[in-house]
Amino acid sequence: MTDNIDQLRAELLAAVTGASDAPALEEVRVTALGKKGRITGLMKDLGAMAPEQRKAFGQQLNVLKDEIAAALDVRKRHFDSAALDARLASESMDVTLPVRPEARGTLHPISQTMDEVAAIFGQMGFEVADGPDIEDDFHNFTALNFPPGHPAREMHDTFFLPQAEDGQRYLLRTHTSPVQIRTMMTQKPPIRVIIPGRTYRCDYDMTHTPMFHQVELLVIDTETNMSHLRGCLQEFVRTYFGVDDLTTRFRPSFFPFTEPSAEMDIGCSRKNGELKIGNYGDWLEILGCGMVHPNVLKACGLDPEVYQGFAAGMGIERIAMLKYGIPDLRTFFESDLRWLRHYGFAALDIPSVTGGLTR
Ligand code: DAH
Repeated sequence: MTDNIDQLRAELLAAVTGASDAPALEEVRVTALGKKGRITGLMKDLGAMAPEQRKAFGQQLNVLKDEIAAALDVRKRHFDSAALDARLASESMDVTLPVRPEARGTLHPISQTMDEVAAIFGQMGFEVADGPDIEDDFHNFTALNFPPGHPAREMHDTFFLPQAEDGQRYLLRTHTSPVQIRTMMTQKPPIRVIIPGRTYRCDYDMTHTPMFHQVELLVIDTETNMSHLRGCLQEFVRTYFGVDDLTTRFRPSFFPFTEPSAEMDIGCSRKNGELKIGNYGDWLEILGCGMVHPNVLKACGLDPEVYQGFAAGMGIERIAMLKYGIPDLRTFFESDLRWLRHYGFAALDIPSVTGGLTR
């Protein structure tokens, strides 16, 4: 009996060592320990034995079974780790390869222009403020001195939302001016902010898209006058367009929230159908501005006898088109990769007045 067991052990261990791969090893396992395996077979014979013999033989068989199972396990792990090594080797990646240049992304001209505007006004001491795209009538119109039924409301081609549960009709802000109100109601003067953001009007053609961007300017202090406004804006356009002596011109205009109101033009040339910014004798309208109307200050809880200030608003797309020679407004929002590659900006060249606005 013992001889038989020793022989079986030697045979099975040799088979385990001799198995050349995982499937071959599995076969050895089935031959030894499977339902019809050789060790299993001997276990079944135990029943027919005399009690004494059964005990001794049973013990030996159990030892053998454990030994073979352990040997199978060691060999199996060897195959598993070899398989893993082979897989890792086949799936390895050479991380020392350089980044492919064509995968580079670019910054959209809108983002670039907003960054440039923020860099210029940032250097004059302005902070950036923002407000919600979904506004109420109070902030978008009433507090800005648009009386109910005033024709200027109609001119804004407002997108209204369905009436809300609170009875209000919310709307998509038609300009960034409502953030003037939000700023004055939450900050104590002196206030010096720019407000870049999205604005919405129901309009679509060569020069209008239903969503566009504006940047608003607001200064509130105790001694602010129109020459400060003019100086700030002149400094801005000169730096933004990179024309040191660029001339500006104020024309009287009307906005409900400013008094007096003006539109500012900058010098340009339109010779041969080509638009050039500079002092060439022709004029180009660039923005709206004025001194904050006393009614607006009052709506925000500020005493117009103590405080006054100025505001201005301009279209981001418009100044981007002028500076970068982009002919059609609608292309800004078509997500055409060729357009984005052509007009986009390197993502890590952050504009600054001292380091350069565009590189
Ligand atoms: N909110 C005006 C518009 O969208 C632009 C504007 C004009 C803003 C004059 C101002 C301003 O702050 O003073 O048409």
